[in-house]
Order: sequence, then structure tokens, then C-alpha cells
Amino acid sequence: MRACIYEKHGGTEQLRVVDGLEAPQAGEGEVRIRVRAAALNGFDPMMLEGSTGLTVPMPMTPCGDFAGEISGLGSGVSGDWRVGQRVTANPVLPARGMMGEVAPGAAAEYVVVPQEAVIALPDAVTFEQAAALPVAYGTAIRMMRARGQVGNGEKVLILGATGGVGVAAIQLAKMAGAVVTACGRGEDKGRKLKEIGADHVIDTDKEEIFHAARTIAGKPSYDGSNDDGYDVVVNYIGGDTWAMALKLLKRHGRVLVCGATAGYDPKTDLRYIWSFEETIIGCNGWTSDDQIELLDLVARGHLDPVINKVYPLQDIKTAFDDLIGRRVFGKQVIKI
Ligand SMILES: NC(=O)c1ccc[n+]([C@@H]2O[C@H](COP(=O)([O-])OP(=O)(O)OC[C@H]3O[C@@H](n4cnc5c(N)ncnc54)[C@H](OP(=O)(O)O)[C@@H]3O)[C@@H](O)[C@H]2O)c1
Repeated sequence: MRACIYEKHGGTEQLRVVDGLEAPQAGEGEVRIRVRAAALNGFDPMMLEGSTGLTVPMPMTPCGDFAGEISGLGSGVSGDWRVGQRVTANPVLPARGMMGEVAPGAAAEYVVVPQEAVIALPDAVTFEQAAALPVAYGTAIRMMRARGQVGNGEKVLILGATGGVGVAAIQLAKMAGAVVTACGRGEDKGRKLKEIGADHVIDTDKEEIFHAARTIAGKPSYDGSNDDGYDVVVNYIGGDTWAMALKLLKRHGRVLVCGATAGYDPKTDLRYIWSFEETIIGCNGWTSDDQIELLDLVARGHLDPVINKVYPLQDIKTAFDDLIGRRVFGKQVIKI
């Protein structure tokens, strides 16, 4: 079997595409899938680097997201699963954890997953589209709906909006009828943010987020006597942005947080949390039902996942380098 592996933490020089690996076989209750497309997420470079605190079993194969065809069924697999069927999976495997983090990832010709994780792929959804969905779009749909309850007419500010979670959050917030301000670096990404629905764009190469966002949404008042400021700030960047973003929320505003790309222990400003009665809402993961809903939205033409580029497996290092170098808009997909 051909796969990408790394045997030690470090930079992308540790990534190797190798042939001749033993393909995994489906055990009891397991399904083997011939992977056709996989996708990278913000966590893949973090796992490679070893910066998350998780213990990564080596050798590790990156990529949690994938789609493909069933190529083998273990004993005791129930239901209507059949060899050749087009499928994807929830990459958070029961009792094993997240693929690409603590369980082998999908940048490989074959993966084996428990049958509970397998999700049927509608005919109208391509392998590449399906691979773009689980982690980024799954997390974004949970943030926008179950946790954040973003509603019609609400003003939403999304920091770091050009990555996988960001583009998904823009598309889903627009579906909910929100007015979206999206932050990203550079004119090219700014144009693309507008193309996928952002109402306002802040080019963080040229503009300081705080002043630009105040110009767009106005200065909030703690007694709620105006409608200025944001109802929701989506902030998985953390670091220096954390305290700044608290000052942009209107009274009873919400911060949605699912990550900390630029630092998990930021300086905060409690005065804004109490004066404006702000709510900080944590969001973690998604459910298989979220993934099924996303596939349905794509199949019906209501959602088109944003794919930056599709790379052949032998170029996965370039896909990583582009992600780390922030030269990406949307999802990095790997064709296997
Ligand atoms: N809890 C969960 O279930 C869950 C699931 C998925 C993701 N996450 C987290 O959500 C976050 C977003 O994930 P992602 O996959 O979309 O990609 P990501 O690699 O974190 O990038 C998102 C965007 O943030 C900007 N960015 C990158 N590094 C930055 C830095 N040091 N400072 C400020 N901005 C930076 C980049 O945009 P520009 O270059 O245009 O500024 C990039 O496109 C990550 O922290 C990830 O760990 C959590």
C-alpha cells in the first residue's frame, strides 16, 4: 500500500510517501475503505510538529478527512454496506480517537474504520467535496447552529476566516441570514471571501482588525442603547486577538471558540465580559448527523465546499507547506 507517513515530530521534511506498506485488513465489525480523496486541517501541521500535547503513535499517517469506496467487510458487519459502495466516515473513531491524531489517518490507499463510523456518500457528492467536509465544516456547523445559534440578521465577525473552518463558518452563517465580516490576509483572499458571501472584508495585511471592525459595526454601548457592535465573534485564533475581540461585541454578545491557532493562554479583559454581559461558548467537534446534513446540503446544491487545491499524494508535502505558509483559501485536498 502507498501512504504518507512520518516517524518523528518536526517540519515537513519528516513527511515521506512510501510504497509497499502492508494494507490494513478489516477485523470484526470493521470496514476497509479504498481512499480516493483525503484533506488536511489546521491540526495536521500541529500533530506533525508535536505541539498539541497529544501522544502520537509512530509512524503516523496524516489526514482525518476522507472519502472512498468500501473494499472489504469484516465479520459481523451489519446493515446494507457493500463492497464498492461510495462512503465517507466520521474520523473520530469510537474508542480509538481522531484519525491523523491518535489513530492512523487517511493519506493512504486504504483505511479501516469501525462500521459505526461509516457514512454513505450521496451520488451527487464527489470524493473531493466529501473529503473537504468532516472536520472543518462539521466544526463550523456545530458552532453556527447547536452551540452558537447564529440567527437571521445577526452581525458576525469571523477571525482567520480564510482557513477551512473559516470559509465553512462564512457559508453557514450566510445560510442562517447573518451579516458577515470576514478577516483574512491579502487582496486575493479578500476577493475570494466576498465571492463566498462575506458582506465585509478586513484585509489584515493592511488594516488593524479592531479599528476596521469598529468602522463596520460601530461602537457598542454596554447599556444596549444602540445596535452597534457584533452579536457574535468567531475566534479560534486566540493569542493577541482575544481581549481585542471582546471589545467588539454588543451587549449580550457571544464569542464562539473552537481552537487557539495563535495561542491558548491569551490575555483577557474581564471588564468587557461583565459590563457587556458577554457569553463565551466553547465548541468541540461535531456529530455524524452533522456530517450527514452537510452531505445533504452539498447533494442538493445548497453548499459547495471551498477547495483551495487538489494535490496528488506525492505532493502532500507541498500541500502542508502551503497550509503552514498561509497561502491557502479553504481546504487542501489530497487525491489518493
Ligand atoms: N475543536 C474542534 O473540534 C476543532 C475542529 C477543527 C478546527 N479546530 C481549530 O480551529 C482553528 C481553525 O482551523 P483551520 O483548520 O481552519 O485552520 P488554521 O490553519 O488554523 O487557519 C485558519 C486561518 O487562520 C489564519 N492564521 C493562521 N495562523 C495564524 C496566526 N498565527 N495568527 C493569526 N491568524 C492565523 C490564516 O488566515 P490568514 O493567513 O488569511 O490570516 C488561516 O487561513 C484551529 O485552531 C483548529 O485547531 C478545532
